[in-house]
Amino acid sequence: MPIHLGAAWYPEHWPEERWQVDLDLMRAAGLTVVRIGEFAWADLEPVEGQFDLGWLVRATEMAHASGLSVVVGTPTAAPPAWLTAAYPEVLAIDGSGARAQHGKRCHFDVTSPLYRAFCARVAERMALALGHAPGVIGWQIDNEYNRLTYSPQAATAFRLWLQEQFVDEQGRPSLARLNRAWSTSYWSERYTDWAQIPLPAEDNHNPGLVLSFRRFMTHAYREYQRAQVQAIRAHADPSHWITSNFMGFFDGFDHYPICEDLDLACWDHYIGTGNLDLDRAAASHDLTRGFKRRNFWVMETQPGCVNWAPINNVLNRGEARTMAWNGIGHGADAVLYWQWRPAPGGQEQYHGSLLGPDGRPRPFYREVGELAADLQLVGPLLDGTTVSAPVAVLHSYDDRWAIDHQRHHRGFDPLAHLLHYHRPIARRSIATDIVSTRADLVGRGYRLVVGAPIHIVDESIAAELAAYVREGGHLVLSARSGFKDYNNALPPQRQPALLQDLAGVQVEEYYAVLDTVKVDLSLGGATATGEAHTWAEWLVPGRATQVLARYGSGNGWLDGQPAVTMHQAGRGRVYYVGAWLADDLQDRLLAWIIAQAGVEPVLDKLPVGVRASRRGDVHILLNGGREAATVTLPWPGKDALRPDRAASDQIDLGPYGVAVVTNDQADQYQTGQRTSDE
Ligand code: GLA
Repeated sequence: MPIHLGAAWYPEHWPEERWQVDLDLMRAAGLTVVRIGEFAWADLEPVEGQFDLGWLVRATEMAHASGLSVVVGTPTAAPPAWLTAAYPEVLAIDGSGARAQHGKRCHFDVTSPLYRAFCARVAERMALALGHAPGVIGWQIDNEYNRLTYSPQAATAFRLWLQEQFVDEQGRPSLARLNRAWSTSYWSERYTDWAQIPLPAEDNHNPGLVLSFRRFMTHAYREYQRAQVQAIRAHADPSHWITSNFMGFFDGFDHYPICEDLDLACWDHYIGTGNLDLDRAAASHDLTRGFKRRNFWVMETQPGCVNWAPINNVLNRGEARTMAWNGIGHGADAVLYWQWRPAPGGQEQYHGSLLGPDGRPRPFYREVGELAADLQLVGPLLDGTTVSAPVAVLHSYDDRWAIDHQRHHRGFDPLAHLLHYHRPIARRSIATDIVSTRADLVGRGYRLVVGAPIHIVDESIAAELAAYVREGGHLVLSARSGFKDYNNALPPQRQPALLQDLAGVQVEEYYAVLDTVKVDLSLGGATATGEAHTWAEWLVPGRATQVLARYGSGNGWLDGQPAVTMHQAGRGRVYYVGAWLADDLQDRLLAWIIAQAGVEPVLDKLPVGVRASRRGDVHILLNGGREAATVTLPWPGKDALRPDRAASDQIDLGPYGVAVVTNDQADQYQTGQRTSDE
């Protein structure tokens, strides 16, 4: 599959006579794909049961005739007014009991069986009309699932779902099990009838209830999605893939089970206010690649600016090209701009776009053309390639929900904490997978796995980690690991509970840190003193466990106690980091662990601000800043974007520069081999 470049196109906003002009301009810019249809329900089914898909079919035919592939979006994020007016129960209800209003989007109640039926019907009609249309390559279900609902029908569905989760040995629904798992003697919460169980619409509900509700909402979105997936699969060509577009680290639902029913993972990459941070963006790319453990699409990205951020600054000239290449370097097989042309009205009039309201290219259109030229030059080199990572950072929605519900220190943002571990790895240009805490790790070639933290630990998670370490893997466990069981209850052991033996350490006590606490780090002879903040655990190492850091004077309790430990377990090693270390110490510690684990970067000794990623044998070098930089390669490389240049071990990168480099010697070697084989 080529690397696609595209845009979200809304032909329904414009007269048909205009469409060919749009498509010609797309081709002139070098676009290869359009996404159409999402949000267009009012035009596709203007009256209940009366469909008008002709325009969509014609737009698809024209796009195909113009050489563009088509992704069809189902319009279900935007139910039409006739539907919400006639059947108000399809509207979501928020935590305060207020029903969502028509006139925005994503206002539907994902638990509504009636709504799902309407969605499945419109998806089916679209699949019947376009399931074998030339040019169509895939389908996007809905758009950025996000809303929770607290409606009576959600409560009914939640209670039924709970009856499947809490069962006795015979598999029968067991309220006793639920009561035990949630410790419902507490505050007289005990339930004697399933119908008594509330939706946690207010703050400070039982942690078990809260976590179950979040899991239930994932289940609801999965069912909602499945109804449309089935409708499409029944009628579309089997070669068509099905996806939905996500929002990076957004945690409204657990993306891992949702992705099980999809063929492709996608995300919408927006910066909003500010500029490109290559490492932060890399984390979201790594996350999305980890959903299916394969390449993904950037289904939307900003053409210059957005309209919804506090300050909608335009990216600097050249920055968006680097942003796109950063995605490609991390496994994106497509980059689509949102949007092609703004509608004259509607809520997003100020958003960046490729064309202006007058139908003529805006300045950003040129930058897309440059990216298209890049892809025409080097796309074939990347065909079929992917990222191979020696490091995995583990990620869990359950863990984020559990911690967010009880941060204990308001600054303990679980996502910021995870990124605190990802960043020192990413900034060294080390390829990293972000995968589920429940992903298999054994036999994947990881030299280093990071749990930051693995908060909820059950037998299966503990067993996989133990097997990975036994095989010789290095494992980092952060503070708050092994803190909770599957139902968000405290386990009967000290943390890290089921991981105690593997980690060779116990947490004697944990502290939310008011200010900071001193930490003395000692790594193979080198020492460093710095600080920890937010969170600190007093560790008690086992007999065979080495102490790598101790607290200095702080709250008295922590003074002189172990803060970071290292334990040899079988052929592998486990590091336990009990505190939220300041950035400089964290960087030092992770650099040492990376070296201990024998993890290699894609390229070493890169200038500040430059990052390298690798797909197959192709190295992608990016300059994330406005200062020119020169990369020295360990071999003579050829920049495929500058075919006129001879191979060299010096690659110049201008401001926001991009180079797509192949190892010239490796090429010759392979060519030579092929010749001698013939
Ligand atoms: C989201 C949506 C798009 C559009 C963009 C604007 O990602 O999916 O429909 O609203 O934001 O940035």
